[in-house]
Amino acid sequence: VPTVTDELPHETLGARWSGLRMPAKGLHADTAASGRTSTAVRAAVASHLDLEAELGAYVAEGAAAEQLTEVRRHLGGLLGFDADDVALVESGSAALAQLLAAWPLQPGDRVWAVPSEWGPNLSAFADFRLEVGWLDVDDLGRVDLEALRNRLRTDRPAFLHLTAMASHRPLVQPVEECAEICTAAEVPVIVDTAQSLAQVEFPPGAAAVYGTGRKFLCGPRGVGYLAVRDPWQANLVPRFPALPPGIWPGQGSPMRSLESREAFVAGRIGLGTALREYSDLGPRQIHERLHGIGRALRAELAEVPGWVLTAPVDAPGSITSLQPEDEHLDVAQVRAELLRRGVVSTACGPERAPGDITRPLLRFSPHLDLTLDGVRELAAHLRET
Ligand SMILES: Cc1ncc(COP(=O)(O)O)c(C=O)c1O
Repeated sequence: VPTVTDELPHETLGARWSGLRMPAKGLHADTAASGRTSTAVRAAVASHLDLEAELGAYVAEGAAAEQLTEVRRHLGGLLGFDADDVALVESGSAALAQLLAAWPLQPGDRVWAVPSEWGPNLSAFADFRLEVGWLDVDDLGRVDLEALRNRLRTDRPAFLHLTAMASHRPLVQPVEECAEICTAAEVPVIVDTAQSLAQVEFPPGAAAVYGTGRKFLCGPRGVGYLAVRDPWQANLVPRFPALPPGIWPGQGSPMRSLESREAFVAGRIGLGTALREYSDLGPRQIHERLHGIGRALRAELAEVPGWVLTAPVDAPGSITSLQPEDEHLDVAQVRAELLRRGVVSTACGPERAPGDITRPLLRFSPHLDLTLDGVRELAAHLRET
């Protein structure tokens, strides 16, 4: 087991990130649910709300068209897409539902996925009457690339779906390799980047990606995204908005037709600020520090009696989860007790990944402000619950 070092990477980054936002009340380790927004993000949201009140909401939206294009460009750039490939929606789930509604699919079509797939995504596949074919995985739960290559010699799904980083444990899929293998077989790879965006590096190559800006990017709640690349974009059959085309700039292009018309536009403007802050702080350093924090947290929590880590100490990113040894232990109660002590965490029920977990897990997902003292404090609270 790797030992915890006496220092985390990029210490000044933690202080800079904290300096951009209000101090947390207690110990916030719940970014995988929703990150803490910065003061500037909230100010950007508020200033667009002011503009809506002054000009009228639709006029304000028109006035902010360039800012919104910049949001699509910036987001697309992080995920390997052009601005025109990106649609803004409300959430990760809304994005997937919108994508499946527009993708040329028939009931009974097959999607290939890994057993650790996010449960609500599996429910969305079921809603569209898609059948799931399980991919072989290695000991950690990552796609077995050789098995994928072999399977494609005799079989083809409508698309392969990956969740780039799982939400219930620190597990990153080999998106780039899967995209290479599948693109050669003309099978599109669709990727859920809800947890990976701004937590770990994301490679280009997927046919489509989607997620939400509220987690590690720390954008406002209520803003999600969807990006589709050509040639797959040309096959989309969007559900056109009820209003005549041409009213809003860009309307009529395939991806803009996937955007929700009634939307939290102020939140989209706020997301633009979160994107700038992320890029200014330095994505590579952010990923390195989050990994350092996750590693230190996992090493410390591995020593807490009664709990078992769900992944190796050196697993990627900051997400850390534990399974109680006692199968009757009420994880929701533990989460509630931690909250009383000021520690914000998540109790993950098995519905989040029904093919991977059968019992609830306790999840911590700190951002850049967790210090080594904070890591020890968090573990002490868990020991005492
Ligand atoms: C891996 C993953 N995919 C999708 C979602 C759904 O995103 P949203 O809550 O924005 O609908 C989440 C949310 O936690 C998630 O963790």
